[in-house]
Amino acid sequence: MANLDGRVAIVTGAASGIGFAIARDLARQGARVAICDVADPTAAVATLRGEGADVVGVRADIADEEAVAAAHAAVVAAFGRIDILVNNAGLFTTITRAPFDQLDVAEWRRVIDVNVTGTYLFSRAVWPSMRAAGGGRIVNITSGSVWSAPAMMLHYVTSKGALTAMTRSMAREMGPDNITVNAVAPGFTISDGVLEHRHDMLATAAGRARSARALQRDQAPGDIVGAVAFLCGDGSAFVTGQTIVVDGGAVMR
Ligand SMILES: NC(=O)c1ccc[n+]([C@@H]2O[C@H](COP(=O)([O-])OP(=O)(O)OC[C@H]3O[C@@H](n4cnc5c(N)ncnc54)[C@H](O)[C@@H]3O)[C@@H](O)[C@H]2O)c1
Repeated sequence: MANLDGRVAIVTGAASGIGFAIARDLARQGARVAICDVADPTAAVATLRGEGADVVGVRADIADEEAVAAAHAAVVAAFGRIDILVNNAGLFTTITRAPFDQLDVAEWRRVIDVNVTGTYLFSRAVWPSMRAAGGGRIVNITSGSVWSAPAMMLHYVTSKGALTAMTRSMAREMGPDNITVNAVAPGFTISDGVLEHRHDMLATAAGRARSARALQRDQAPGDIVGAVAFLCGDGSAFVTGQTIVVDGGAVMR
């Protein structure tokens, strides 16, 4: 029997990139999976259905409270329950990299709105369903940049720092409902979005990331899924409020 047989998982930002890899892995572990994305999830859903997965797609901007409520309702209508939420959607690959004093304040606000407030809104929306199911798992995708503190993206690093703190405090508040809240912090990962938008970083940051690692190679989305699956499965039932850094051993804490 697969580890997640019978569980229902929502993965945000799963139309592509790291989120898609997580959704595919949870489906392979036996979960029924909802792919939630502001972009059209049709192709991602078709791919996973083609692999035999029980998958639905829902389109929502996680920073929009009404859209999140509608997405939650759509998943409950499709699958009847929610056991797992992976808050993966975030703005990274399309943000402007600039010295802190030159960042556009509107973009700063949007990054905080999506990466922090969106994660909060989705977690709050699924909480009643998880309580009704007797417990649940929330996994937030943060970033190794919280520790490595790279320059030129203060809005992003700030948002992921907030998410790291939110993970701990939310774990404290949801613990009495048997809901664990943990985070996975990837290093620089060659995702779809990076390949499409981050030619600047592929030329510079990828090499720096490789040489900073104990395991000196590029990081792929598939490197992240095992830690997420662990935090969604029975083996981590007594683990909460924690962050697992998955970066090939660049950050060691
Ligand atoms: N790629 C990296 O190097 C890296 C490293 C550490 C952490 N992360 C984090 O991992 C997550 C995924 O990164 P990725 O590289 O796969 O990014 P990506 O840009 O390839 O994919 C992000 C997905 O999120 C969706 N999305 C964006 N805004 C959304 C919104 N408001 N509502 C719903 N969906 C939205 C996009 O449509 C896209 O499908 C992000 O949270 C990112 O911060 C990435």
